[in-house]
Amino acid sequence: MLNIRPQLRKLCFARSISSFILPEAHQKLKKICCDFSETKLRTIAAKLDKEQLFPSNQIKELANLGLLGILVDKNYGGSEADALALSVAVEEIAKCCGGTASIVSIHNALYADIINRIGTPQQKEVFLPNFVNGNNVGCFALSEPGSGSDAVNMQTTAIHDGNEWVLNGTKAWVTNGIEGGAIIVIARTNKIIGHKGVSAFLVPTLTPGLTRGKRDDKLGIRAASTCNIILENVRVPYENLLGNVGEGFKIAMSGIDVARIGIASQAIGISQAALNCAVEYAGQRKAFGNPIIKLSAVQQRLAKMVTKIEAARLLTWKAAILKDNGHSFTKAASMAKLAASKAATYITHNCIQILGGMGYVSDMPAERYYRDARITEIYAGPTDIQYFVIADNLAKEYGLKIR
Ligand code: CAA
Repeated sequence: MLNIRPQLRKLCFARSISSFILPEAHQKLKKICCDFSETKLRTIAAKLDKEQLFPSNQIKELANLGLLGILVDKNYGGSEADALALSVAVEEIAKCCGGTASIVSIHNALYADIINRIGTPQQKEVFLPNFVNGNNVGCFALSEPGSGSDAVNMQTTAIHDGNEWVLNGTKAWVTNGIEGGAIIVIARTNKIIGHKGVSAFLVPTLTPGLTRGKRDDKLGIRAASTCNIILENVRVPYENLLGNVGEGFKIAMSGIDVARIGIASQAIGISQAALNCAVEYAGQRKAFGNPIIKLSAVQQRLAKMVTKIEAARLLTWKAAILKDNGHSFTKAASMAKLAASKAATYITHNCIQILGGMGYVSDMPAERYYRDARITEIYAGPTDIQYFVIADNLAKEYGLKIR
């Protein structure tokens, strides 16, 4: 087997466009995250993947770096940074471990940031500090066994009873569901009025009546758990309502917009790792008397791979910068996720193609990159939903309606 250098970080950093585009603070963050990822995650990523292990110590260390409360106010222990910082951090973590990147990305985008934006001071006091510090991770429960892309079709109910809400139903695909300390549960408070009959609730996972299904045995991002969450007469205080009654669907969608930036960043990190692996291998592996990087067929693959990564990264940073400057970013986030996740599928496929047989065995990380990349085209809305969101918003920009 050829010896692939364990890291190309200096090379990548120097050649990356980041040093021209990112503000200085984000460049520093990128370096910190890159160092952490290379020293603390690279060596354990294969084991986490194989044994489906949650990286508890590393999550605690990431919290100490401020990466579990990236968008959270300092009052609640957060870093008070921005979506561009989320993107930079998640990409660097994903270069070494796609599963850990998923844990961090979903916790930040679909738990901590939502509460930071929407929660009352009391809710923030209870549900943020002890999660931002790494003692807990947070989760988000929208999908159900019978409703994924068609999210509004959920069956889980929340009934107002005295000073409490009573929740019943089953949520599916809950990232961090096995380890999570609290969940933002999106449930139906009115059966008749569509998305206006949906509300959001803060539910600690130790609440009686809440049980977890089995840990899903996934193709990739296996360090991150997903499971069903079963709610049987789960009672939470009235004040655990997040936002107002009827705002739950919009709260969920606004969180998913941020999650799409996070997932795009995860896809870019996995892609960059696969590109590094492919270039390194092509520079060493000889065929027909020369390193295979001298073959035009290999050059074409590498050229397409790097172009797709850079395009996806620019789209992702654009979406983040739009958010950070208070602009609408729904379409941009969907475009970023669409481009980055499709790029990741393409790039990890071609990484294996360049490595040949060595790409197909677990001695090399290429097969893990391939498996980890696949989810980015599925969760927080599959590619087909991104087409819809982009087209819908595009049509609106032209004063047209497509439905
Ligand atoms: N931000 C805020 N509000 C939004 C919004 C957004 N991005 N998108 C839509 N809305 C609002 C609309 O304005 C509308 O409100 P009004 O009627 O007041 O104007 C309301 O929400 C309903 O919108 P739509 O009519 O567009 O809703 P729809 O039922 O047609 O659905 C959809 C649209 C794009 C298909 C949406 O359901 C969707 O994105 N589906 C995919 C869901 C998804 O990504 N699920 C993944 C869950 S997370 C996960 O994977 C688990 C995990 O742990 C990671």
